[in-house]
Amino acid sequence: MLADVVLGLQHGDEAKGKVAHYLSKNKSYTHVLRFNGGCNAGHTIYHEGRKFVTHHIPAGVFYGIKSIIGPGCVISPKHFFAEVKELQDAGIQLHGKLFIAKNAHVITERHLNEERAENKIGTTRRGNGPAYRDKYARKGVRAFETSSLKSYIIDLYEEFHSDKTIKVLCEGAQGFGLDVDWGDYPYVTSSHCGLGSVFLNAVDPRWLRDVWGVAKIYETYVGAKSFEPDEPVFQTLRDLGEEYGATTSRPRQCNWLNLNELQKNIVLNSVNKLVINKMDVIRKLGQWKLYHNSNLISFENEKEMCDYVTAQLPSSVEIFFSEDKNRI
Ligand code: IMP
Ligand code: MG
Repeated sequence: MLADVVLGLQHGDEAKGKVAHYLSKNKSYTHVLRFNGGCNAGHTIYHEGRKFVTHHIPAGVFYGIKSIIGPGCVISPKHFFAEVKELQDAGIQLHGKLFIAKNAHVITERHLNEERAENKIGTTRRGNGPAYRDKYARKGVRAFETSSLKSYIIDLYEEFHSDKTIKVLCEGAQGFGLDVDWGDYPYVTSSHCGLGSVFLNAVDPRWLRDVWGVAKIYETYVGAKSFEPDEPVFQTLRDLGEEYGATTSRPRQCNWLNLNELQKNIVLNSVNKLVINKMDVIRKLGQWKLYHNSNLISFENEKEMCDYVTAQLPSSVEIFFSEDKNRI
């Protein structure tokens, strides 16, 4: 039995989709499990030369691995079926590979409409907050109660705790900087985006092997708070990094890497493998900067910056500096 986890260490859009896709191909999992979030997520995946953006559906489907939307998730049938169609039209086989935990909650039309009317913190307008609110207010609708989802329903206890060997990749959504408890409340999402959340999805903590934390060498955030300093360099960075939302096309606000936040989020999630993405983007920009202990530190070149980051992180963490569209 084993479980590996992929989770975001910033504010989403760290390229978790890329990492989950890469691991699905190489690590011979029996299952891939989405453990939090809804169709607010947008995971950009390049599969056999083609670009896909998934919202609900775990990356395992690209390699025929049984893929499950867990009970920690909320699911919009409307967006789910649109995504199923898109993947099937592109030739991805989903039959017998894609399942929804019976106790996942449903994002209803009412939830979607509610977010169209009011949206103070700049959400993705995918009904995520209202669906989780109703879940915790004990007024929600669960997946097994929704007739259109019937053929996908699975009991995750039976699936994971029979006699079969389970090797599961747990694919997180959003990022720990958007976690409802650890993010910058109220500018957060409504789910738990960290490691603890995995174990509410029938995964036994004793199965845990690797926690892959994913970050970028700079930061982005999408939402209503002011995040980007008023300097033209960040518009250049946005364009070089194609930092426009995969779900909503909104421009992502950019800033330099916050090393203290990264350190904290690594510790709080027991990260032992760290992927730092988009090295090629910052190389094109030709500026290497980060915040550490309230100072903005500038480096002469990429190597200096990578050495500094490596020296500040726990030596038990294996670090992979990665480029935008490449593998790890
Ligand atoms: P919600 O999750 O749609 O309720 O949005 C809450 C906050 O999280 C907003 O600032 C969103 O822009 C942000 N957010 C939610 N999901 C993602 C994501 O997958 N990537 C980046 N930001 C996200
Ligand atoms: Mg995204």
